[in-house]
Amino acid sequence: MDGLYHIIEAQQFSREVMKGIFGLTREMEQVVSRYGSNILNRRIMATLFYEPSTRTRLSFEASMYRLGGQVITTESAREFSSAAKGETLEDTIRIVEGYADVIVLRHYESGSARRAADVAAVPILNAGDGPGQHPTQALLDVYTIQKEIGRLDGIRVALVGDLANGRTARSLAYLLTKYEDVKLYFIAPDMVRMKDDIKAYLAEHGVAFVEEEDLMKIMPEVDVVYQTRIQRERFGDRIADYEKVRGKYIIDPAAMAVLSDKAIVMHPLPRVDEIDQAVDKDPRAAYFRQAHNGVYIRMALLQMVLEA
Ligand code: CP
Repeated sequence: MDGLYHIIEAQQFSREVMKGIFGLTREMEQVVSRYGSNILNRRIMATLFYEPSTRTRLSFEASMYRLGGQVITTESAREFSSAAKGETLEDTIRIVEGYADVIVLRHYESGSARRAADVAAVPILNAGDGPGQHPTQALLDVYTIQKEIGRLDGIRVALVGDLANGRTARSLAYLLTKYEDVKLYFIAPDMVRMKDDIKAYLAEHGVAFVEEEDLMKIMPEVDVVYQTRIQRERFGDRIADYEKVRGKYIIDPAAMAVLSDKAIVMHPLPRVDEIDQAVDKDPRAAYFRQAHNGVYIRMALLQMVLEA
């Protein structure tokens, strides 16, 4: 398998590479249960986060520590790094590459991870670039589907919620094109429908998809319901628009009642109110297990990029 270096977008992964990542991820589950490893001893990871995060930043940092590495970090980098004094992203990367062996970047602009990679002398891992992509989330999502459902070929996935701004849904759609006989259902309020670039990519790669309005009609047909949050922060001062679309699609006990017994509900989290908390105790609610898989996936990715 070719070495992994920058991780910028979901399209970059072949099925073969994903097989290798998932194999190493399974080994990482064992490493964690044995209290870690020292394989990345003396290596340093920088986390540069210009947008808020709980799961991505902390799971990357936990992953690095689990493998014996060290972490330097700037959260709220828009306010608390030299970006606040006008430093460009490119200059920041040129500086931080002198301090760390790998840079994990979350930024508010689509395309920022690519810009960083264009000037970086160390691997850049895209931890979410505005409404663009979130490829390491997509990898942990696909790993979760494989682990929970037992297959990826022939999978039926409903992507629900804010599909225009949802970088996790976009990256997952890209990644699922690597598998056979996949069908995607897009269920979103009109204002935040899946964008044409994804639909064109799916069509070009022969992946079946439909846009549906009726969530209850689709629930019984799918293996995975991938619910997403309406992203208030992408609406700016369009509060009335946000209020119009939020709450249209909610996974509640009534929706769970028509979901197959073998299906699962996923969510990249954080959630607001789009999954009723009454659903949490249902064994088909996989979203907390999904988030925990992020540590294993990111351990595998860090080992791969730092050993490339
Ligand atoms: N799923 C995800 O990206 O969560 P955070 O924003 O908390 O990192």
